[in-house]
Amino acid sequence: KTPDSHVPRDPRLIRLTGVHPFNVEAPLSALFNEGFLTSPELFYVRNHGAVPEVLDEDIPEWEFSIEGLVKHPIKLTLRQLCEQYEQITCPVTLVCAGNRRKEQNQVRKTKGFSWGAAGVSTALFTGVAFSELLKKARPLRKARYVCMEGADKLPNGCYGTSVKLNWAMDPNRGMMLAHKMNGSMLTPDHGKPLRAVIPGQIGGRSVKWLTKITVTAAPSDNWYHIYDNRVLPTMVDPEQSANDPGTWADERYAIYDLSVNSATVYPAHEEQISLSKADQSYTVRGYAYSGGGRRVTRVELSVDKGRTWRLANIDYPEDRYRDTERYLYGGRLDMSWRESCFCWCQWSMEVSIAELASANDLIVRAMDESMCVQPKDMYWSVLGMMNNPWFRITIHKQG
Ligand code: MTE
Repeated sequence: KTPDSHVPRDPRLIRLTGVHPFNVEAPLSALFNEGFLTSPELFYVRNHGAVPEVLDEDIPEWEFSIEGLVKHPIKLTLRQLCEQYEQITCPVTLVCAGNRRKEQNQVRKTKGFSWGAAGVSTALFTGVAFSELLKKARPLRKARYVCMEGADKLPNGCYGTSVKLNWAMDPNRGMMLAHKMNGSMLTPDHGKPLRAVIPGQIGGRSVKWLTKITVTAAPSDNWYHIYDNRVLPTMVDPEQSANDPGTWADERYAIYDLSVNSATVYPAHEEQISLSKADQSYTVRGYAYSGGGRRVTRVELSVDKGRTWRLANIDYPEDRYRDTERYLYGGRLDMSWRESCFCWCQWSMEVSIAELASANDLIVRAMDESMCVQPKDMYWSVLGMMNNPWFRITIHKQG
């Protein structure tokens, strides 16, 4: 029995830490096979502690506040948020900054646990735009940051973090307070009854079980804002970092936008490829994403260790939600991301069996619209975050 015994969970999920807290990813193929949208059951979970227990009958009265450097502080229940504000719906991919950390831990142990490549999931989130609420609250002239706090009780206080106020005020960044995913109430692991959803940024900024928003002049001083979700300079090692609060608190090392990344799903890591049908081909498939609303503009594959590359086909299901004024799940399909890509895409390429027979591995890399490309080499850092070098699969052959 754990403090989370009240939370229903899918047995297919792979546990990445011990029994508690709950940190899981789906088997990569199961995640990918679900398609563009991930069901809540297979959506990755990153919890720092126990899931707050919220009874269904208490949900409408769940309270949250917007305070600090604002002219008009706001206190609302979830019921009021739904009744008084326009509801919007957006497809958003959340990615844990630790996605693909396992590869880093294999090179040199970081302080973090080993995510495979399934620390990424997508849902249609419904809620209210941050920009609408902040417009009402009227931030004061010296306000710069928006701090958020969750209801979870952790060893170092509640979970909290911050983002820049100008992002939160910008409707095009699509930041929202969400209470539904894929048309149903949020599940306990994903923030029931209310969470922040911050498109294009690492999942760690999307605070779950949201209770309080404070507009401030400085970034959050919450323990989890300072000691989590950072890429410290590569020379900082685990022992040294423990005694170096100044380095941790350096806001320049805090991660916000996701970086460009991709992974191959088929073939899977241990998959045996049958060589018996030499005249046929294999469809290599995988996913890619980037941050800050940037589109993935190319995905390249190499079967000769990066000497030559060829282009994969890219499918962007998110585009099919664009340009239509539709209502989904009680929320207007939000147009804020007309020019932005806040979701993953799927890529594929036919490779002949003959070619696979003579290759040792498959390498994939993606590039985004700002011409940022996945690097050949890994950038190791003590928390093991934002790992995005070329993704390699060894080809196992049979027959
Ligand atoms: N919010 C609270 N209150 N507590 C948490 O532990 N984890 C964060 C973020 N929000 C966390 C939180 C991290 S690190 C990530 S990656 C995302 O939630 C994960 O969201 P998910 O579990 O819904 O996938």
